[in-house]
Amino acid sequence: MNILLNDEIISRENVMVDIEDRGYQFGDGIYEMIRIYDGLLFEWEAHLERLVRSAKELMIPLPKGMEVLQKNIHLLMKESGVLNGSVYIQITRGVSPRKHHFPENADPVLTAYVREMERPLEQIRNGIKAITTEDIRWLRVDIKSLNLLGNVLAKQKAVEQGASEAILVRGDIVTEASSSNVFAIRGQECFTHPTNQFILNGITRQVVVRLMESTNLTLVETPFTKEALMEMDEVFITNTGLEVCPVIEIDEQLIGDGMPGYYTTQLQKAFETLLLELIPQ
Ligand SMILES: Cc1ncc(COP(=O)(O)O)c(C=O)c1O
Repeated sequence: MNILLNDEIISRENVMVDIEDRGYQFGDGIYEMIRIYDGLLFEWEAHLERLVRSAKELMIPLPKGMEVLQKNIHLLMKESGVLNGSVYIQITRGVSPRKHHFPENADPVLTAYVREMERPLEQIRNGIKAITTEDIRWLRVDIKSLNLLGNVLAKQKAVEQGASEAILVRGDIVTEASSSNVFAIRGQECFTHPTNQFILNGITRQVVVRLMESTNLTLVETPFTKEALMEMDEVFITNTGLEVCPVIEIDEQLIGDGMPGYYTTQLQKAFETLLLELIPQ
């Protein structure tokens, strides 16, 4: 596997992570994961914008190679031969003797690599089971930072209970899920948490919000409770890997009739159409 290290592409064996890289010691860094469909980067501009925003919020200077990042990612994709997959990009604050405050002279470190990935069609078509769990994360999860322990623990709990996603509840409000945004439909209204410091503004969320205009659904961006969630007709999650994925069961209780719902399926079709439009036939 080849790795982009700042502005150089080198083989994985030759990349060294410094023991005092702040990403490694403090989780002091940011990342993005971008989908590659048929050799094309999906929503590149939106991901780049979020990466730059995350850097700004954490006061991480943009690293060497940032201005030619898109070109280098394309080179990386070409060299990997991957047509369908994902690219992971990470920027850490850099290497410095371990002290909590920002180092004065550290250069940020950018790494990126490409991986092959199939569309998870079984989950997309049949839906997934989820659990609910307390949202124990910090109060700036709008920043896509490397600090993911709250997400990791939640996902682990889901997996241990035979589910594939953990829906996070702060107080009694549903925020998002461990690695996805949550939407819930009742009647013709589609509820989702507003974008503020309590959720990550998902790129797939943004796409789905746009696609919703082609349906009879009305988007309601408002906090809603776990109790309300359990009474919804349909629930679905969105993220870069799962796209639009129905949630058919939460905490062992069926949502609707326990099948992917009508509007979720409509949004999935709209998403498929968007992909077909992007990919030249
Ligand atoms: C906590 C969280 N929320 C939402 C998302 C969805 O974001 P995106 O659609 O940009 O993949 C992710 C993606 O990893 C995530 O980790």
